[in-house]
Amino acid sequence: MSTAEARIAVLGLGYVGCVTAACLAKLGHRVTGVDRDEFKVSSVLAGKAPFYEPGLEPIIAEAVAAQRLFATPDLSAALQDADVALICVGTPSESNGNLGLGQLRRVSEEIAGLMQGRSRRLIIAVRSTVFPGTCEQVVATAVAGHPSVRIVSNPEFLREGTAVRDFLEPSLLVVGGDDTEAVGFVADLYRELPIQPCLVTLRTAEMIKYACNCFHALKIGFANEVGTLCTSLDIPAVEVMQTLCQDVKLNVSAAYLTPGFAFGGSCLPKDLRALTYRAGRMDLKLPLLENVLPSNEQHLQRAIRAVLGLPAERIGIFGLAFKENTDDLRESPVVALIEHLLGKGRDLRVFDPHIKLEEIYGANRQFVLNALPHIGKLLVPSLTDLTGWCDHIVIAQKPSPAFDAQLQAGGKPRLDLVRL
Ligand SMILES: NC(=O)c1ccc[n+]([C@@H]2O[C@H](COP(=O)([O-])OP(=O)(O)OC[C@H]3O[C@@H](n4cnc5c(N)ncnc54)[C@H](O)[C@@H]3O)[C@@H](O)[C@H]2O)c1
Repeated sequence: MSTAEARIAVLGLGYVGCVTAACLAKLGHRVTGVDRDEFKVSSVLAGKAPFYEPGLEPIIAEAVAAQRLFATPDLSAALQDADVALICVGTPSESNGNLGLGQLRRVSEEIAGLMQGRSRRLIIAVRSTVFPGTCEQVVATAVAGHPSVRIVSNPEFLREGTAVRDFLEPSLLVVGGDDTEAVGFVADLYRELPIQPCLVTLRTAEMIKYACNCFHALKIGFANEVGTLCTSLDIPAVEVMQTLCQDVKLNVSAAYLTPGFAFGGSCLPKDLRALTYRAGRMDLKLPLLENVLPSNEQHLQRAIRAVLGLPAERIGIFGLAFKENTDDLRESPVVALIEHLLGKGRDLRVFDPHIKLEEIYGANRQFVLNALPHIGKLLVPSLTDLTGWCDHIVIAQKPSPAFDAQLQAGGKPRLDLVRL
């Protein structure tokens, strides 16, 4: 099977399906769009877009005229010689917020009903946004392990209003699945586009789409809360955010976007507290910013529960400062973690490459001695001392490559809080 001119059935000719069908036809594939809605089918057949989307109509018209794009309400006809069924049906919200999977269930059952007696391979690629596990639970269950079917997740990232440009100049291309050949085939459909595909598992692909959309929503919420505060303070909000975006090392970058341990230190908690306190005094509600510290506290509590759940009698903790390469202990989440563990009567020792109690002084020393008066008895001078004493290691700070190698060589079971 070659992807040079793949035969693709696009199921659902809504905003996503119609743009996908037209653009895949533009890339040289032979595409049949399927929709229960006769208007959408007849629009496409007439070379017209069934809704307004800049640049879409000429692509549909050209592809229909070139006989690379067809449309039909008949799924059976579309699937007959298809290599790929690209599911683009709607997944609207239900009243309780859950994802409405009615359209996906129905179309999966319709496909399953047409698979009897089929020996030709069919890749079902799910482009609709679905919660992780849905491809397995809904689509795979419907086709019930039919030997000719492969299931792939291929989430869509286009935005209405710039959908054609987003398709042709994608920001991300994700294809997930267990069958390497099927994943490669779907990724190859887009080979003319200026993007390298990210090949992942089925559930990872489903999750990436949610992570992206939630991140975008978070960014907008953040900008609007900062903007609201700026406006109340008579500070130009756009200038503040545009300047923030000039920092492409720490602000608009991958920095701080790796899941790990809770944050702490002498700046982030203090500044969040001060900003939300002052906003509150101005009667401004900034729920996103107000909930960052509670979110961080929840994350710390999860770590505490995970450590308490270890079948450990002697816990060795790597790291005490709030991050690597510093001896600053102020508001270190590790200090809070140790406080909890000691409170629960756990036996533990701590090693931090940069902490020597006799060398730290001032607010830093006061903070740790207030929280952990007996820290002097818990600190050990070397990692070898720690791994030699403990039966479990908790990594609470990113180790250097040398310490990482030593931790692995130590052979003790590890709970890594910084590299989830
Ligand atoms: N709209 C966006 O900007 C966007 C972007 C990325 C991802 N998504 C996701 O893509 C999916 C589709 O979104 P949309 O906005 O295109 O939805 P939509 O409601 O515009 O289109 C869905 C289409 O599927 C058709 N359909 C439903 N069941 C069918 C069946 N059994 N057979 C044939 N056709 C059927 C409907 O008639 C409709 O035309 C959703 O999961 C959505 O979350 C949307």
